[in-house]
Amino acid sequence: MPAAHLRSLDGSADLRGLDPATVAITAGRGSGEPGAPMNVPVHLTSMYTAGGDVGYAREGNPSWTALEEALGALEGGTALVFASGMGAATAVFEQLDVGAVVVAPADAYTGTRGYLEDADARGRLRVRLVDVADTDATLAACEGAALLWAESPTNPLLAVADLPALAAGARAGGTVLVVDNTFATPLLQRPLELGADLVVHSATKFIAGHSDVLLGAVVTADADRAARLADRRTMLGAVPGPLAAYLALRGLRTLPVRLERAQSNAAELARRLDDHPAVRRVRYPGLPSDPGHGRAAAQMRGFGAMLAFETATVAAADRVCERVRLLTHATSLGGVETTLERRRRHPNEELTPPTLVRVSVGCEDVDDLWSDLRQALEPA
Ligand SMILES: Cc1ncc(COP(=O)(O)O)c(C=O)c1O
Repeated sequence: MPAAHLRSLDGSADLRGLDPATVAITAGRGSGEPGAPMNVPVHLTSMYTAGGDVGYAREGNPSWTALEEALGALEGGTALVFASGMGAATAVFEQLDVGAVVVAPADAYTGTRGYLEDADARGRLRVRLVDVADTDATLAACEGAALLWAESPTNPLLAVADLPALAAGARAGGTVLVVDNTFATPLLQRPLELGADLVVHSATKFIAGHSDVLLGAVVTADADRAARLADRRTMLGAVPGPLAAYLALRGLRTLPVRLERAQSNAAELARRLDDHPAVRRVRYPGLPSDPGHGRAAAQMRGFGAMLAFETATVAAADRVCERVRLLTHATSLGGVETTLERRRRHPNEELTPPTLVRVSVGCEDVDDLWSDLRQALEPA
């Protein structure tokens, strides 16, 4: 097969049968014609000459198209990129009628939960918060619901939802299932294949991977849904800049290698933390003792690079965050560098144990990471 066949952005790219690690590198390239640039160039323009498919930059940009081709190929649907993960999430929620019922995890990402609680308080949506790891309770709450929002694993409790069971139950009751796949990425979990209707990403995190860009995405295999969402995006205007889209695609190229390294570091740190006398509990779906282990093993290709641990006291958790020298005390996650924070310091986190420290494991040397964590865990 000639190389040009795989590089097309005109819809003829044939990526079937390729491993996702290859797709991440191959999809969303230029034409492959002699002399064509390897990467789709950044087009800084707010308008296009009349007569083409796209007239105005709120409707489209070649850097979005390249990233969308790659994300769509990885998730198995049509991708639409947004200015941020929250831009993507709110575009989905804004499609719902006033008063529609939304079921969502009580321990969903604090921004998502904050939006939903605000929408509920204003009468825009009616929100039912559930423990998404409890399949029966979640499906019972879906009675009459327009949308079930699942996050798996959840941020920051690392709870694992039974996505195939939720998808089957939601579908039977006419409820649309949306999965926030930020923690897993399409390399570790493909919710559309498990029966979800829509996938949402904060591509700010692992997909872009370098803590230098804010970007979101929605993916669906339903062409009508994708078209409605594209209209909504143009209307709402939460569109990414071309440079942000370019950087996110550049980050995506190395996601397979970054994730492999970060995930293996996370597994090792989880094991060592689990044995540490100052640590009360480790949450990592890769640990056989973790309540989500069985489900994660069944529906994911790996357990990811996010973990959380609990210390004996809040002071001890704060001390770890203050003492680290190699790890960075910072919010957000998914970069090549390891970051950590005590999540309860944020609003909407009352379900999070006050001593829980969430760690986004990066690609540094695992022994260097462990030395730093170990010294930070020393008693005062
Ligand atoms: C799981 C999850 N979903 C969505 C978001 C929102 O993404 P963004 O910050 O790109 O708007 C975040 C951000 O932390 C997140 O962790």
